[in-house]
Amino acid sequence: MTNPLRDPQDLRLPRVAGPSAVVLFGVTGDLARKKIMPAIYDLANRGLLPPGFGLVGFARREWENEDFAQEVHDAVREHARTPFREEVWRQLSQGIRFVAGDLTDRSSFDLLRSTLDELDRARGTLGNHAFYLSIPPGLFPVVVQQIKATGLAERKPGAWRRVVIEKPFGHDLASAEDLDSVLADVFTPDEIFRIDHYLGKETVQNILAVRFANEMFEPLWNSNYVDNVQITQAEDIGIGGRAGYYDGIGAARDVIQNHLLQLLALTAMEEPLNFGPEQVRLEKEKLLAAVKVPDDIGQHTARGQYATGWQGGIPVRGYLEEDGIPPDSSTETFAAIRLDIDSRRWAGVPFYVRTGKRLGRRVTEVAVIFKKAPRLPFGEASVVDSADNALVFRIQPDEGITLRFGSKVPGSAAMEVRDVTMDFQYGDSFVDASPEAYERLILDVLLGDPPLFPGAREVDISWRILDPILDHWSTQGQPPPYASGGWGPASAYEMMSRDDRVWRRP
Ligand code: BG6
Repeated sequence: MTNPLRDPQDLRLPRVAGPSAVVLFGVTGDLARKKIMPAIYDLANRGLLPPGFGLVGFARREWENEDFAQEVHDAVREHARTPFREEVWRQLSQGIRFVAGDLTDRSSFDLLRSTLDELDRARGTLGNHAFYLSIPPGLFPVVVQQIKATGLAERKPGAWRRVVIEKPFGHDLASAEDLDSVLADVFTPDEIFRIDHYLGKETVQNILAVRFANEMFEPLWNSNYVDNVQITQAEDIGIGGRAGYYDGIGAARDVIQNHLLQLLALTAMEEPLNFGPEQVRLEKEKLLAAVKVPDDIGQHTARGQYATGWQGGIPVRGYLEEDGIPPDSSTETFAAIRLDIDSRRWAGVPFYVRTGKRLGRRVTEVAVIFKKAPRLPFGEASVVDSADNALVFRIQPDEGITLRFGSKVPGSAAMEVRDVTMDFQYGDSFVDASPEAYERLILDVLLGDPPLFPGAREVDISWRILDPILDHWSTQGQPPPYASGGWGPASAYEMMSRDDRVWRRP
């Protein structure tokens, strides 16, 4: 049931979720503790959850409701964005329940069902249930089948049920399609919410605002003026305690298949007819379908594995020395790929995407790099020490936008031109701090608002882009090492110099 108090057309009004319960599978995982549970508290703290809200944890732990509530409490105290307020916590904790159970055990799901019934009665959650699968994807089919078998997915008049899944959505096109059919057996497309947390970031949504709410950028947004686009997601951390998840997945599946291809789609897509989910997805799908992988994959991609090195003055281990990583692992922790877009707008403009762990610093940005001025009229005495003009969406951590252009150095008699920047910083222009991506996305799930969730087709097309590259790499043995704290392997620089270009140093 949608919230009767909310006009879905008017997004300026506070969007408050209606009565509902979230069933969280995978409560002991990192994501649940660091992101999901804190985001639920932050929503409650911002007054965006109703009094009739429940959170049900499901795990193989001998916990009572109070034990799980304590876990949530600790996660909130440690990771919530907003201050801890006793009265908010008291209200939220009254709707917390725990089901000690096994994912493969039917009786555990019967227990879940009776717990939800009790919650509906005691807290007024009205039978509206979101099943949040923060678990390894290999377990999705069994959980979805259990939900079906226990009748938890049955449609009841006036109530909704939704399923939320976290990536990876498969590990290639074939497995992604298998996953689609597992989900489609139980849920309709509008009941399935695939989380790509990058789409929940304000700075990512702002790409579309800047492109389509202004008149001055869009005329330049094409191959007449743009030389290339560089999308970077760099992290200074290693894989930490995530060996089990990361090894065998690697940088391209972990980040490029989802976050970076979504950034690429938002940067390059045509203007949608409107901002409804169908139209936005349609434009993203069209764009992704036009993406071409270079014929000579070996020349236009690079991968690497971090080796020992120094980060912030501290010696760090290489990937192969990390706990839980087999010493002969060929999983890449750095990936860079050139992609082209087969459209009139983008013909001849390469899009470079790269991601890596243990790089120089944590930064995500989309840099649109413009062509050079066709001639310089300043005469021989001039000194033009200017790189290319660029518009850079600084996605994180220093959120904002930078415009870089050449400018006259004051005082010099001859025309001396150097690069300067104009910067927009969120903190300078807006009073409110941006919510965490998970706050926005969880609220959207509870409200049934799908625009920020990739559809099945987008996911499948993204795999179609990545599969040939992954197949090629799988024949190439171990990825070359790169020093921790640097900017990736030599092959990453070489692929750019083949195109007569260089990577931006973020
Ligand atoms: C996740 C990846 O999806 O995104 C992680 O699984 C990565 O490996 C993370 O660290 C990066 O997210 P953010 O928001 O910190 O850029």
